[in-house]
Amino acid sequence: MKALILVGGFGTRLRPLTLSVPKPLVDFANKPMILHQIEALKAVGVSEVVLAINYQPEIMLNFLKDFEGKLGIKISCSQETEPLGTAGPLALARDKLLDDSGVPFFVLNGDVISDYPLKEMIEFHKTHGGEASIMVTEVDEPSKYGAVIMEESTGRVEKFVEKPKLFVRNKINAGIYLLNISVLDRIQLRPTSIEKEVFPKIAAENRLYAMVLPGFWMDIGQPRDYITGLKLYLESTRKKSSEKLATGPHIVGNVLVHKTAKIGEGCRIGPDVAIGPGCVVESGVRLSCCTVMRGVRIKKHACISSSIIGWHSTVGQRARVENMTILGEDVHVGDEIYSNGGIVLPHKEIKSSIWKPEIVM
Ligand code: GDD
Ligand code: MG
Repeated sequence: MKALILVGGFGTRLRPLTLSVPKPLVDFANKPMILHQIEALKAVGVSEVVLAINYQPEIMLNFLKDFEGKLGIKISCSQETEPLGTAGPLALARDKLLDDSGVPFFVLNGDVISDYPLKEMIEFHKTHGGEASIMVTEVDEPSKYGAVIMEESTGRVEKFVEKPKLFVRNKINAGIYLLNISVLDRIQLRPTSIEKEVFPKIAAENRLYAMVLPGFWMDIGQPRDYITGLKLYLESTRKKSSEKLATGPHIVGNVLVHKTAKIGEGCRIGPDVAIGPGCVVESGVRLSCCTVMRGVRIKKHACISSSIIGWHSTVGQRARVENMTILGEDVHVGDEIYSNGGIVLPHKEIKSSIWKPEIVM
């Protein structure tokens, strides 16, 4: 089986992290977002993944070459010269997606995280006999997403409305599809949206089916959702493979600590924290609802909550970092500094406190 992952877009909402790497390579729970997806695809027998990309393909390919061997999966890029939206890239990659056996292929939005119940989706697709399957999930605010109205008993989609202005219903498109090859015949090679131009038509012919996604789901393309996504991911890890989570008197709730990270005496870590490879957390540090990426040093008695600390940064002694502070790569926060929602660009040194949410250039 084959799969295409939509990884276009500049990831502006995840800046300053995306100033260092393309969005799919931003770490989530100690590994690049896209690896979570590629591993899930591999687990259900996908042998080839096409990344639909519209900038910096070299960075992505260089990085993923390592994993091709390790995971035993073929990864290639399909590069657009202009952004082709969410459907155009399928037309561009048509030849790569065609499979002699004519089996359907997966399409994933590159910024969604879940348990990826792809095996269940393959079963679902076989049972309904339609042309396309999509996963749906429930959210509080459907207007940010694609709203789906479906016949509950069969899953047949009656209507698909992208970014509805009026409240329709709270089932939304989760950005995970399994499509018959014939769907490619519906898509022209031009900038076009699968949500606005393709799904509504297949639904009108009664050939689009939706499956309610079991387990958690989050679009992690924005800092607040990224932090909520981590909480949900760790909760799910607790249920499925709790041995992956850290234990000890200093751990509170669900915490992921890379085996190469060092934690000092008297810390209080958690809930909902991920600490990446090579990090050093000195004594007396408090961390909650945050991600600490590879190579970070947190000095004595610093306190971090609801924030993301980018690669190789340092946080000074007794510093307090909170309220959606996002430190880019290699940022150095001085001793006793306070950051309330600072968005700090890579390679900066912070010598005075940031009292209200703002971008520090
Ligand atoms: N290659 C390529 N080219 N990829 C693109 C392009 C493009 O021109 N435009 C967007 N993408 C990719 C994004 O990188 C992302 O992975 C995916 O397509 C969806 O685009 P977003 O910009 O993240 O859309 P959204 O989050 O507002 O809405 C989509 O996702 C929701 C679920 O998170 C829609 O599919 C909604 O229906 C859905 O509910
Ligand atoms: Mg998105």
